[in-house]
Amino acid sequence: MKLLITGGAGFIGSNFIRHILKNYQEDSIINFDKLTYAGNLENLKEIESDKRYSFIKGDVTDVNAVKDACKGVDAVIHFAAESHVDRSIHSGHEFIHTNVFGTQVIIDVVHELKIPKMILISTDEVYGDIESPNKSKDGDAFKPSNPYSASKAGAESLAIAAHRTHEVPIMITRSTNNYGFYHFPEKLLPLFITNLLDNKKVPLYDGGTQIRDWLYVEDNCKAVDLVLRKGSIGEAYDIAPENDPEVTNGEITKMILAILNKGEDMIEPVEGLRPGHDQRYAVDSSKIRSLGWKPSVSLKQGLEQTIQWYQDNRVWWENVKTGDYQEYYKKHYGN
Ligand code: NAD
Ligand code: TYD
Repeated sequence: MKLLITGGAGFIGSNFIRHILKNYQEDSIINFDKLTYAGNLENLKEIESDKRYSFIKGDVTDVNAVKDACKGVDAVIHFAAESHVDRSIHSGHEFIHTNVFGTQVIIDVVHELKIPKMILISTDEVYGDIESPNKSKDGDAFKPSNPYSASKAGAESLAIAAHRTHEVPIMITRSTNNYGFYHFPEKLLPLFITNLLDNKKVPLYDGGTQIRDWLYVEDNCKAVDLVLRKGSIGEAYDIAPENDPEVTNGEITKMILAILNKGEDMIEPVEGLRPGHDQRYAVDSSKIRSLGWKPSVSLKQGLEQTIQWYQDNRVWWENVKTGDYQEYYKKHYGN
């Protein structure tokens, strides 16, 4: 298959490209990415000279650029997005432009060029938070809580409408919080790991009682791959390891501290940086499991491998934590 990946220079997209090139000799990939602050071609260094891979610097909101890039492809996998909740709280504008308008552009091009398949990469956050012990499932109403999740819910609504109205061949995946290699260090886990490797404290929001269902990125890539090859057009698949017991932010922070041999005095409790903070996400993953998917690593194994990767790849994250990153850090966290 010839695949067009949007946002392939980001965290999950770059892991997905590596996954496909490693597992399918006959597939080729075009990576279409604007290279925003979150896009980094260093994430793809080891495969950049692979003849099956090519890169186009482009914006998903630019219809002509998207159309040119999509000619002759068998499927579009749309990862590109503004993805950080905290940034969306500072300003939602880019989130709406890229995540909503950009998704409509991709849908229109898939429709016009009659591309056989499109996958929209969405998130469990569209459901909003859900009280324990309930789980959100496909078909439940969207109740997003912040501009990021609202923009993703908007993108999903457009995809669902395009499938119904124009029979655009779309599938959707909604995964829980990913973690793993090449994760931009503004999100909880890579921020905390890299701060601790630098002997800096970690800013734990709102008492650390919130629950996320941490998914190893390679397991998400395998699930998206399965949807690409075996999924049914028009369906949406919730992807979650369903970690049992569930883990709070405070608990996962303590797991990281234990692996790195650091004390709890490294936790800096902070309040008020995440207004509208969702308390708990939990989704039912039975539909993707019925296609044969299950997670391959436990949270403890995945965390150990991830922390080892950040220890071995200091140059990668030191290069990321410069310039614009430092300005954002100061603006958001103060001193
Ligand atoms: P990321 O922020 O690491 O990467 C986003 C990529 O999109 C970057 O390479 C960026 O340059 C590119 N991009 C942004 N705007 C663009 C535009 N206008 N045109 C072209 N490219 C553009 O994000 P991620 O964590 O890899 O997330 C990928 C997708 O998965 C997103 O759609 C996100 O909503 C979804 N998702 C992420 C998680 C998670 O835990 N990270 C969980 C569920 C769903
Ligand atoms: P994040 O990684 O931003 O992902 P999301 O908001 O999409 O779930 O945050 C995960 C959780 O960690 C969330 O409950 C907010 C919390 N958090 C902190 O406690 N401190 C931080 O510095 C960050 C970035 C997040």
